Amino acid sequence: MSSRWTNVEDDAALDAQRKKQKEEKRRLKEEKQRKLDAEKAEKAAREQHTAEEASEPPKKRRRTASPDYEVVAEDAHLLEFPTPTFGPSRSLDLYEVLNNIEEGSYGFVSRAKHKSSGEVVALKRLKVDHNNNHEGFPVTGLREIQTLRACPHPHIVKLREVIVGPGPVQDVYIVMDFLEHDLKTILEDMDDPFSPSETKTLMLQLCSTTEYLHSNWIMHRDLKTSNILLNNRGEIKLADFGMARYTGNPRPKLTQLVVTLWYRAPELLLGAEDYGFEIDVWSIGCIFAELLTREPVFQGKTEVSQLSAIFSLLGAPTRESWPDFRSLPNAKAFDPVLSSSAYRMSSLNASKSPYLTKAGLRLLSSMLSLNPEGRPSASQLLQHPYFREDPRPKAKEMFPTFPSKAGQERRRRRHTPQAPDRGDAPKMGAEDVASMFSKTEEEQQGGGFALRMG
Ligand SMILES: Nc1ncnc2c1ncn2[C@@H]1O[C@H](COP(=O)(O)OP(=O)(O)OP(=O)(O)O)[C@@H](O)[C@H]1O
Ligand SMILES: [Mg+2]
Repeated sequence: MSSRWTNVEDDAALDAQRKKQKEEKRRLKEEKQRKLDAEKAEKAAREQHTAEEASEPPKKRRRTASPDYEVVAEDAHLLEFPTPTFGPSRSLDLYEVLNNIEEGSYGFVSRAKHKSSGEVVALKRLKVDHNNNHEGFPVTGLREIQTLRACPHPHIVKLREVIVGPGPVQDVYIVMDFLEHDLKTILEDMDDPFSPSETKTLMLQLCSTTEYLHSNWIMHRDLKTSNILLNNRGEIKLADFGMARYTGNPRPKLTQLVVTLWYRAPELLLGAEDYGFEIDVWSIGCIFAELLTREPVFQGKTEVSQLSAIFSLLGAPTRESWPDFRSLPNAKAFDPVLSSSAYRMSSLNASKSPYLTKAGLRLLSSMLSLNPEGRPSASQLLQHPYFREDPRPKAKEMFPTFPSKAGQERRRRRHTPQAPDRGDAPKMGAEDVASMFSKTEEEQQGGGFALRMG
């Protein structure tokens, strides 16, 4: 049996050991709890941070988040896009007028030099009726500026700027690139007409420019040789957009009185209120014939005599060739003419034009189809076999050069009709038509169409 003291000592040692173990346990527990609390606190803090980030307004985040952005922006070379600005128009003082070129129906054109650069330009003064406050700035001038601005094209004259003249009543001028010739003047002055290959080059340029306009829904409405400029590098540039206008589908209401008389399509002469791109194609047909003969093909003095000249060469329309003819406002007056045998046949045939190839004649006849629906579109013209057969179109670099009349002092007054004042087509009575169409056979043939080219 063990002594009591022994027991007491042992018990005390045992108690001390238990106490120590207990303390150690508590310490471990407390430490574990501390760790857990710390983890919990850290997690809560993390969650709070994420929540704050998500709810922060983007402005603040962008401002604080990327200092790099600002650094890059400071160093970057920013591109500046040109933006239209409003400011006073530049003045005529910048230019020195060298010589007058032409006075037309809507403008007065002169050759001028830019004083500081020495560049030669053409100035067109737009006729503003200062006495008529109701009219204000002419609509033809607005159309010309608007269309030239909208149509940068290698074969459309370049509009450089619009300037104002001096004085309290300011005239408005458009400044264009200067070109040495227009086709009308050059055809009048040249000894021999353009060769077939030169004619093809000019026609191709004209047809492709018209195709560009039509595909952009623009009708020129005054195509004629005096509105086609030519430089000494064999390039034409279409000018005079005073009559041009945007059209659409459905077509807007259009002015009837458009296109200079000699180049005006029969449907316009007959008072059509609704017309389309075909009127430009008719004018190109007249220009083609004029390039071949150096003479305008139809030279009427009035609407009736213009139609008389057209019917003399091409024959009067029939129900088959132009079914809609009779529905045109002025068609009724032509009843006696239609029943007369004098205007039955087209005399535009190979015997009258022996030097134009068959393909060329087919092209010309199609453009001069009385029925607008029979005329090819400008893009169809470009595909015509005439342009692919020999002789091929001449390279523009090989074009002959001509002395420039526009570069000399001259004040011409043409003996050709000018562009019409806009308005409604004149009404034709049976008497007007009867008097004009009762001419002798010889007179009826008018200028006729006889090619002299080899
Ligand atoms: N940029 C130019 N460079 C050289 N000559 C030009 C230029 N622009 C026009 N011309 C000449 O001036 C003439 C008249 O110009 P334009 O046709 O623009 O005026 P318009 O008054 O509208 O004419 P119109 O009513 O007679 O058709 C042209 O036929 C041409 O001879
Ligand atoms: Mg003109």
